[in-house]
Amino acid sequence: MSTTHTPRIFSGIQPSGGLTLGNYLGALKRFAELQGTGPQTVYCVVDLHAITVWQDPETLRAQTRAAAAAFMAAGVDPAQSILFNQSQVPAHAELAWLFNTVARVGWMYRMTQFKDKAGKNSENSSLGLLAYPSLMAADILAYHATAVPVGEDQKQHLELTRDIAAKFNHDYGVDFFPITEPLIEGTATRVMSLRDGTKKMSKSDPSDASRINLTDDADAIAQKIRKARTDAEPLPGSIEALKDRPEARNLVNIYAALAGETPDAVLARFEGQGFGAFKPALAELAVDALAPITARMNEYSADPAEIDRILGEGADRAEAIARPIVEETKAIMGMVRSR
Ligand code: TYM
Repeated sequence: MSTTHTPRIFSGIQPSGGLTLGNYLGALKRFAELQGTGPQTVYCVVDLHAITVWQDPETLRAQTRAAAAAFMAAGVDPAQSILFNQSQVPAHAELAWLFNTVARVGWMYRMTQFKDKAGKNSENSSLGLLAYPSLMAADILAYHATAVPVGEDQKQHLELTRDIAAKFNHDYGVDFFPITEPLIEGTATRVMSLRDGTKKMSKSDPSDASRINLTDDADAIAQKIRKARTDAEPLPGSIEALKDRPEARNLVNIYAALAGETPDAVLARFEGQGFGAFKPALAELAVDALAPITARMNEYSADPAEIDRILGEGADRAEAIARPIVEETKAIMGMVRSR
């Protein structure tokens, strides 16, 4: 017998640096689009995840508020969605501990993000960095979320979330946690670096020219696109033909995501043309799409007290959902509750 869970969407973003076009197209834009489609939407600035690598406390506070501003600037409406920062809802850390007893150490060592972030000296990384996916599973399952919109790079963590839910249900003979569906959709689920089409665009890349930041002004955006690495060939008529041209494919995918078109529709217009024609068109499109977002981010950021108020209110609403689920989890596991 399988319990049917009420559809609910959960997702999160780390405040561990400025957000990029990859975060916008792979996540934030989708978060806004999913509002009002039926399921309740719960969105979180995951500050407890950010500290798995050292963060300067003042910078972390500023980046947490900036991330909240970015959610709202991208169209996440705190009246339609629940928007909060993770550390204000203790259920996340509490459920993560319970899941640390369900998840296996070997599962954690297999995570490619752990291998990438821990690098060669993995024995010296924080224990939190290794246990990170257990906290991520807790984020999702504390809300019994049924669907999680993310970029391609989070797929492995979502598979692990499913493994944890299934093992918990099996070990305790219950059908309590849902098996969450990943929502990895659209043409921009993996936006690549502007300097190297085989690496993902990332806020932690040392080269600022590799990414478009949501705080970049029009000139910076245009310049980064103009200087983006490409090749000398003209554009073909279909995305299939760009299979071995990762930089070209990336720019076409970005164009398609920003314009809300398919890559083939974009290429139908640019077939036979070179990057001398394509890049200025892409730059114009990117500036038109991002300038209003940057402007709104700056407006929200000018009033940090209002951001804090919104995050606090979101945390209260989040807590009201997560608390009973965590209490029930503890009861299932045999914890005595006497008050
Ligand atoms: P984070 O903070 O690295 O990224 C936030 C979201 O942005 C997506 N993303 C991208 N999408 C397309 N192209 C890119 N270049 C790109 N870079 C980032 C990510 O896939 C993600 O959706 N562990 C998560 C945060 C997290 C979470 C959660 C997500 C914590 N708990 C629960 C979902 C549900 C992370 O580090 O994302």
